[in-house]
Amino acid sequence: MKIIIEKDYDGLSKKTAEIIKEEINRKPNLILGLATGSTPVGTYEELIKMHKEENLDFSKVTTFNLDEYIGLSPEHPNSYHIYMEENLFNHINIEKENTHVPNGEAEDIEEYCKNYDKGIEELGGIDLQILGIGENGHIAFNEPAEELTLGTHVTGLTESTINANSRFFDSIEEVPKTAITMGLGSIMKAKKIILLASGKNKAQVIKELLKEEYTTTSIPATMLLLHPDVTVILDEEAASKHNE
Ligand code: GLP
Repeated sequence: MKIIIEKDYDGLSKKTAEIIKEEINRKPNLILGLATGSTPVGTYEELIKMHKEENLDFSKVTTFNLDEYIGLSPEHPNSYHIYMEENLFNHINIEKENTHVPNGEAEDIEEYCKNYDKGIEELGGIDLQILGIGENGHIAFNEPAEELTLGTHVTGLTESTINANSRFFDSIEEVPKTAITMGLGSIMKAKKIILLASGKNKAQVIKELLKEEYTTTSIPATMLLLHPDVTVILDEEAASKHNE
């Protein structure tokens, strides 16, 4: 696991966007796996800047998002569809049909999940996957559990995640209790993975991960220790308990 520690959130965002830019320049038809949450917002801002100021070209890039709440329509202000449009897609030259965010209102949801993975495979797999991390070690919506599902699937959200994500909603009751998420297997198939963590509230889980001593389904992010090409990009606060 490669570890990069930047001074602050701004540095983390710039560094991550730089790596994504290099990957797009290397392979203009990059298959890019994208995350939501607060952590990647700054990275997306940097990518928008690179598009506007340096002509970073997204016209051949394809994206697959990790997850979406079940029951929120793609037009719902708290859906990850709207998040992606507002934070990235509406501001760059990506083709709408090349962007994929799971549909939280799919009718035959199991079939839909299978097809989501198939869609990724048919394009040759994800080249670069961006991940955030939950305070409890979840990645995408793969929550701590005895078993972790490999493919894209429907999952319940833990109390901790519902609480953490309630900050985006008017009240905690409005936070959906279930979601579609790419599974650990779908994520681990990515050729290259970047995991981002910013802020003090991530320091404890990052400390566990960076011990690189064990992997456990009770901290799903530790599964990444089995992947050959993972870069963890942190700000100093998230790294503060590492090497304690
Ligand atoms: C959410 C998302 C994850 C994200 C995580 C951390 O529940 N499903 O993909 O990585 O929580 O979010 P944040 O970056 O806001 O801390």
